[in-house]
Amino acid sequence: MVKEEISKILEAAIKKSGFCASDNLVSFSNKPETSDYQSNICFTLSKETGINPKEIAETIISNINSSDYEFSFCAPGFINVKLTDKKFSDAANSILKSKNLGIEKTDKGEVIFLDYGGANVAKELHVGHLRSPIIGEAIKRLYNLFGAKTISDTHLGDWGLQMGLTIAQLEDDGYLDYYFKGKGNKPKITLEMLNEEYPKASLRKKTDEAFRIKADNYTLWLQQRKEPYLSVWKDMREVSVKTIEKNYANLNITFDLWKGESSVSNEDIKKTIDIFKKKGLARVSEGALVVDVAREGENIPIPKKNESDPQLYRNPMPPAIIEKHNGGELYMTTDLATLVERNKDYKPNKVIYVTDSRQKEHFTKLFRCAKLASISPENQELIHVGFGTMNGKDGKPFKTRSGDTIKLEDVTNLISEKAQEKLTANGLGNDPKLALKIGVAALKFGDLSNDVSKDYVLDIDRFAAFEGKTGPYIQYTIARINSLLNKAGDFDDKISVSLIEEKTIIMNVLKLIESFRISLTNLSLVSLCNATFALAQSYSTFYNNVKILSEKDCAKKNSYLGLSKLVKNALSLALETLAIDVLEKM
Ligand code: ARG
Repeated sequence: MVKEEISKILEAAIKKSGFCASDNLVSFSNKPETSDYQSNICFTLSKETGINPKEIAETIISNINSSDYEFSFCAPGFINVKLTDKKFSDAANSILKSKNLGIEKTDKGEVIFLDYGGANVAKELHVGHLRSPIIGEAIKRLYNLFGAKTISDTHLGDWGLQMGLTIAQLEDDGYLDYYFKGKGNKPKITLEMLNEEYPKASLRKKTDEAFRIKADNYTLWLQQRKEPYLSVWKDMREVSVKTIEKNYANLNITFDLWKGESSVSNEDIKKTIDIFKKKGLARVSEGALVVDVAREGENIPIPKKNESDPQLYRNPMPPAIIEKHNGGELYMTTDLATLVERNKDYKPNKVIYVTDSRQKEHFTKLFRCAKLASISPENQELIHVGFGTMNGKDGKPFKTRSGDTIKLEDVTNLISEKAQEKLTANGLGNDPKLALKIGVAALKFGDLSNDVSKDYVLDIDRFAAFEGKTGPYIQYTIARINSLLNKAGDFDDKISVSLIEEKTIIMNVLKLIESFRISLTNLSLVSLCNATFALAQSYSTFYNNVKILSEKDCAKKNSYLGLSKLVKNALSLALETLAIDVLEKM
């Protein structure tokens, strides 16, 4: 690759000039009008030696002999690097001929376990569960691109209080006589029932103490795998999971494992808790079993103003509760036991959890517990990717017009409708499948172009636009190239660059290639989205300025077409990584 080549040439010249070379010698130019790459090394060398940077730069340049690159001094001490036309062409042809833009599978042997999705059973997927699968799927594909082996698990929320609450409410409303009293025929538990009963139960537990206790007991008995709770739960889980699968499939989200909090056995839970007990890491507090995870500098008491003030702590890190007062399991317990199981089955180098950033404390506690008890080996990296909230235009969490939490399906519908409007306006008729693919592209690209940890505004009109930094714009650019290549028929794709528009495109391809690694390092797709957009934009400029199909010079025409094919390959790889559909026509 170009950057590595330039680094090598520079490194040799630096040594020849009597200086010490370091890493990161070269970066993309801050001023693309004047150079393609730049090196800031002379400032560092000047600090080390006291010699002025201009002198250093000139000495280094005088020791370079390259026919592919032009090196020049730029005040006050930069070395500018420009590619020759031949080098541009060679680089482009070589990327065009290689698989995956020449990105090598350098991470073979790494095993990465990814935990994302995390939908809760009995509650319909709502908009809060949109970001985890979108981000998780893209991170998984990035790892695969570099050759790592990934295992993905959706880790359904299927074992907590929401189960006991829903069962108790369904029973009170007379839906469960068959299970509880052996009366009548087996009822069909439907999603509509769950949509109604869970919110009802959730409200009721706040005021109805007897009901809350009953739901708590039902949860415990379910966790002890007692009947009829287990049978009701199985049927509830099945209806929910069907819808969850459908929703995820629409979003191009796939999992190797469809496990959940319930997947660890009672025996596994007991063994996990015993590890903490045996190692003396757990203590009883108010009837519950807790593990102290605070470190020095955390939990420093803030002096009370008066005796009745509640005690406050600076930098508080409360203990992790691993067993409830009634012996019930908790989110923490199932997560710990699940990690034990994952490590036994897959021995991952890294375990990555993608959830709302409000779960940060949970994961800090989980990771500390796991390390304390050596459930996670020392060299295993445990990572929490916490994302911000998807807000509406009012800056508050995205809601329906009536103020209800919006279902995930409604969001995909809303955005697909927008895409359909555009298709109709462009004379492409009514095509719900195509509209969905464009809508999903809008949603995902809009999401992934934002910093993972930050909140953002879901602006359906802006996200679904066919121009600007949007998913549909990238899809459209590829479709446009497709149609161009179809019209052109067979051609000999030999790129031979001369125009500035072509050089800009090739630089943007090189930047896009680099952005895959940057995105993986950051576990955030912002860099990839930005580079993808920049490439698409530079292609549009080229397309508007250059008459491609009517070009008389055959070599030039082939070169333009070859370059178009390169852009198509590059944009397609980017979209595939983001799990966005590449469309033939649009
Ligand atoms: N079900 C959880 C939620 O709704 C997410 C699960 C994340 N994964 C985990 N292993 N805790 O937020």
